[in-house]
Amino acid sequence: MLRVGLPLKNVHGGPMVEVQIMARIAVTDGMAPAAVAVLEKAGHEVVQGFIEKSDLLAGALNDFDGIIVRSATKLPAEVIEVSTGLSVIGRAGVGVDNIDLEAAGSAGIMVVNAPNASTQSVVELTIGHLLASLRHIPKSDRGMRQDKWEKKAMKGTELSGKCLGLIGFGRIAQGVAQVAKSLGMEVHTYDPYLPPKVAKAQEAYLHKKVDSLFKTCTHISIHCNLTDETHHLVNESRMKMMPGRKGGIDCGNHIVNCARGGIIDEQALLAALEDGTITSAALDVFEVEPLPEGYALIQHENFHGTPHIGAATMEAQQRVGLDIADAVKIALSGKKPKTLVNGKFL
Ligand code: MLT
Repeated sequence: MLRVGLPLKNVHGGPMVEVQIMARIAVTDGMAPAAVAVLEKAGHEVVQGFIEKSDLLAGALNDFDGIIVRSATKLPAEVIEVSTGLSVIGRAGVGVDNIDLEAAGSAGIMVVNAPNASTQSVVELTIGHLLASLRHIPKSDRGMRQDKWEKKAMKGTELSGKCLGLIGFGRIAQGVAQVAKSLGMEVHTYDPYLPPKVAKAQEAYLHKKVDSLFKTCTHISIHCNLTDETHHLVNESRMKMMPGRKGGIDCGNHIVNCARGGIIDEQALLAALEDGTITSAALDVFEVEPLPEGYALIQHENFHGTPHIGAATMEAQQRVGLDIADAVKIALSGKKPKTLVNGKFL
């Protein structure tokens, strides 16, 4: 229900000029002002503000032609079915697991995302978490806040010379691989969908079986989507396979996840930290976000976390916003954006 050629608007108190309000777009999880400006300049009306689940279910999106979300707004089938005016859903980010793609396809709604814009930011956070774990940065800081000077207890290990296992080898993992190699790490990967030549070009050893990756690597970083196949892929038995030693150094086993919650079995991770199978764990993403009250994992001294901030940099958010504004604009004009993700339209 696009409204083309709607009323006259007085812009900045100047003379009346004709503005065509072509579509109403809800932006529910925030978006960079420059990206809002792109949509408004194209004549669209942008309405910003979070919409509660109960309102979404009651049809709050009926009046909208498009919606742009990040991860906080969930668009399951029940919401999509009652959002009869929508023709496009924009996901300002990579993961589309908060949107029912099939329901959107059946309702004739295009779903677009911004897959490239946050790559560098997530790469940098992943390396940051690895270094923070290995050099006990969060643990040291927590101690210093309690007036402790625990120099002897904070002996860490170097990343150099260790084996990094990347689960999934897309853009982010490849970026992590490059930095890891520059720090002297040996890079391994498991990605059943990866053409071997891509791993070869990046000098990464491609494992055919995920267990083989765990048996080889002392450091694991996750970079795949959450699917039925990857749910709890990092489990008790696999963590127990990790060698804990490389190049004559008992460096222990370390896990980082800046991809999606649910790929690691968090109960099993806590048990593995408790019995020493895993030396350190750093998560940016969790099975339940925000964390439930009293969540045990964050209390463990060898754990540190961040609240899903992989893409939360000024640069990434600017790029994400501009990319998604562009894709939504194209979809609203009836064309196929390059970042269309729901099969029906591909
Ligand atoms: C993404 O999928 O783009 C990231 O997880 C960032 C986010 O959801 O905010």
